[in-house]
Amino acid sequence: MTHALPPTPVQPSGPVDTSPISLTPAAGIDLDPVWRCVVPETRTRSNDIHLPISLAYAERLCRAHPEADAELVRVAILLHDTGWGRVDESRIISEGFSGDWRKAEIRYEHERQGCLIAREVLPPLGYSEEFVAAVCAIVDGHDTRKEAYSLEDALVRDADRLWRFDHAGIALASGWFGLDPATYCDRLAREIVPELLTEAAVAMASADLARSNRLLRTDVLRNEETREVAP
Ligand SMILES: [Fe+2]
Ligand SMILES: [Fe+2]
Repeated sequence: MTHALPPTPVQPSGPVDTSPISLTPAAGIDLDPVWRCVVPETRTRSNDIHLPISLAYAERLCRAHPEADAELVRVAILLHDTGWGRVDESRIISEGFSGDWRKAEIRYEHERQGCLIAREVLPPLGYSEEFVAAVCAIVDGHDTRKEAYSLEDALVRDADRLWRFDHAGIALASGWFGLDPATYCDRLAREIVPELLTEAAVAMASADLARSNRLLRTDVLRNEETREVAP
C-alpha cells in the first residue's frame, strides 16, 4: 500500500543513520528468491553493485520512515534497474550517460523492461497483483519522471541516488560520466543533493560525501581550473 507524499523535504519520524553504508548491509533473506530470479540482469551496468547498496540505503530510509510500506520500497529498489539487463548494452554509455541523459530513449526502455521483469518474476513468488502493480508504478518513470507519486516512490528515488555518495558509487559512476572523482563529487553536491526528497537522505548523502571526499583526497587530486568547492 502506498502513502501520500508529505511536503518535501519529508521529515523523518524514525532514527536517521549516517554511518558508512557498509556497516548496515541489507538485512534478512526474505528477498533472496527475488534476487535469484534476476541474477543475469545484475550483470549489466554494475547492477550487482548498485542494487544491493541501494537496497541497504532503502532499508535505512524505511527505518527513518516507519510509516512507509517497507516491503514495497525494498522490492521496487531491488528491481528498478534490472531492465538495463535487457536493452542493447552498447547504447547504455553512448546514450544513457551523455547529453540529456535522463530523457534518452534508452532510459524509457530500461524502465519499461524493468516493469516487464517485475511482472514475470513476482507473481510466481506469491506477490499479489496489487503489490506488483504498485512496484511497477514506482519502477516506471523512476529516472524520467520528475515527481514522486507517493512516500514509497520518494524513498526508492532517494535510495537510487544515495549509493552514488558512497565511494563504491563514486568509483563506478564517475567513470560512466567520464569525470574524475573530484569533479564527480562536486556534481553530486551541486546537482544530486538538491534532488533528494527526504531530510534523512540529505543527512546520509552529506555525511557520505564528506567521508568520500576525504578518503579519495579530492582536495588535492583535482584540476585547479575545475575546482568548484573550497578545499
Ligand atoms: Fe534507472
Ligand atoms: Fe538506479
